[in-house]
Amino acid sequence: MSGDRGGESAPVAAPGLPGVFRLDGKRVLVTGGTRGLGEQIVRLLAATGARVATCARTAEDLRALEASLPAESDTSPSGALFTEALDLTAPDRLEAFVQASSERFGGLDGVVACAGGARGRGLEEADARDWSATWELNVGHTARLVKAAVPHLRHSGGGSVVVVASISGWKPGPQAQYGAAKAAQIHLAASLARELGPDHIRVNAVSPGSMLIPGKRWDRMRTEEPASYARFTAEVPAGRLVTPLEVARVVAFLLSDASSGVSGAHVPVDRAQNAPTPNGY
Ligand SMILES: NC(=O)c1ccc[n+]([C@@H]2O[C@H](COP(=O)([O-])OP(=O)(O)OC[C@H]3O[C@@H](n4cnc5c(N)ncnc54)[C@H](OP(=O)(O)O)[C@@H]3O)[C@@H](O)[C@H]2O)c1
Repeated sequence: MSGDRGGESAPVAAPGLPGVFRLDGKRVLVTGGTRGLGEQIVRLLAATGARVATCARTAEDLRALEASLPAESDTSPSGALFTEALDLTAPDRLEAFVQASSERFGGLDGVVACAGGARGRGLEEADARDWSATWELNVGHTARLVKAAVPHLRHSGGGSVVVVASISGWKPGPQAQYGAAKAAQIHLAASLARELGPDHIRVNAVSPGSMLIPGKRWDRMRTEEPASYARFTAEVPAGRLVTPLEVARVVAFLLSDASSGVSGAHVPVDRAQNAPTPNGY
């Protein structure tokens, strides 16, 4: 089902979505699919023919996603999306969801570790719990997700893992606990690509730049603090932040057979952004 062994099958461009490859028949689990980048990935995968499982803590957001998807999806809506409300940092919940998703879809061909974020502020304000929570949410969940998914991907004959890191894991910025966790995710992807390569499982990291997401931090800054926002966007040569859809397209490509030659890579999608925050570095 995965078609990952050498990518013999020719990719077909999706009508109306230039540059995006079809994912027909792929069975993909995405963590954190109700907002921001994760939501965009789920919508794009469904629109390009994949069956998608996703989780988040807020059940109402999952219901809203389910209700809105059939209109956008060109797959049969029934069974195209499988969701569960859970906290992926809780013991065994993520592992059980991977198992349930594979049972629902009859296997898995890809996983995307997308949920993530930072806890605490700068070095002197953040405590040990902030460092552990940030590690668990980003690195811990990624390692547990991949470990739980490997038997299912192996059973499919191979597959693709995409780890959503950040340019903060590559360029210095405030909140070192976040950057350090994101850097660890980039390392994890490169190492696991070697470890899992014999099973035809590809692993890649994608590092978004600061994304302009409606209602979130940078969007609020855009309307409430235009001077700071202008200073911030000056860090991007083209003068605008990357969008979640631009990042989601790269994730979709890495899940597709069209990227069969790519593994162990770190792919920044940041429009050549320099400092990852308006506070410089
Ligand atoms: N935003 C940016 O500019 C930016 C830049 C570079 C990299 N990134 C990375 O890109 C990824 C997505 O970021 P985003 O800003 O799009 O995220 P977001 O808007 O904060 O959404 C996070 C998603 O993950 C879910 N989630 C969070 N904690 C969870 C938990 N403990 N258990 C289960 N689900 C959980 C959220 O739902 P619930 O809250 O309902 O659980 C939501 O669906 C992250 O890895 C982030 O580090 C973001």
